[in-house]
Amino acid sequence: MVRDPEFPMRGVAQPRTEEVRGYAQLHVSSHPLVAHKLTLLRRTETTSKQFTELVAELSWLLGYEAMADLPLQPLEIETPMEATTGRELAERIGLVPILRAGLGMVAGFRELMPRAQVWHLGLYRNERTLQPVEYYNRLPERATVQICLLLDPMLATGGSALGAVRILKDWGAGRIKYIGLIAAPYGVQQLADQHPDVDIHVGALDRELNDRGYILPGLGDAGDRQFGTS
Ligand code: PRP
Ligand code: URA
Repeated sequence: MVRDPEFPMRGVAQPRTEEVRGYAQLHVSSHPLVAHKLTLLRRTETTSKQFTELVAELSWLLGYEAMADLPLQPLEIETPMEATTGRELAERIGLVPILRAGLGMVAGFRELMPRAQVWHLGLYRNERTLQPVEYYNRLPERATVQICLLLDPMLATGGSALGAVRILKDWGAGRIKYIGLIAAPYGVQQLADQHPDVDIHVGALDRELNDRGYILPGLGDAGDRQFGTS
């Protein structure tokens, strides 16, 4: 099919939300606070400052949920009362925000995991082809973490997430979790089919993409809304 560069998603078949809910690797938060804060985030009148604060708060909540299956190892400690065996996270964790919009998610995750490494990836979506364009990557030659948490608020066509997952797998990341605020069924299907080993944690699963590849109802352009550039 020849795509119209003005409307690159026009005529592209998209799955319905019910069709992708069955993917075992998809986790859509059912927490009331997430639903409440996402509603504030979506509203047109939400200012850039409020938007940035909400992204950080939602990231903390989604991060807490997404970390529920992290492996632990025993750690011998002394309390003021006696020696005991505690537990600590067993694996090194890397936070990988996709610039620009993923930047706003870092603060919430660093509150949860202050010792996590942060590796930035710069990808933007070519709005005519909807293909990701890589513009920043300073990953060292070999992977320095065992678990990568890929942070990007919007999973739309999935192009950016697929590009980032490919980079991280080539780097040698052992396990990857994608964490986003809002996903479209099309992006979930692309990511889940092409990388069934990647967990997908999102705050909401929206209805569809419009002809330009924007999520409906969505929130508009996450990068522009955070940084006041629309
Ligand atoms: C947005 C968003 C994702 C991408 C999602 O970034 O932050 O990275 O679009 O769309 P996709 O699933 O169709 O790839 P954008 O390209 O607008 O760049 P920005 O963060 O710099 O604004
Ligand atoms: N990127 C965004 O920021 N929003 C969308 O709806 C789709 C891609």
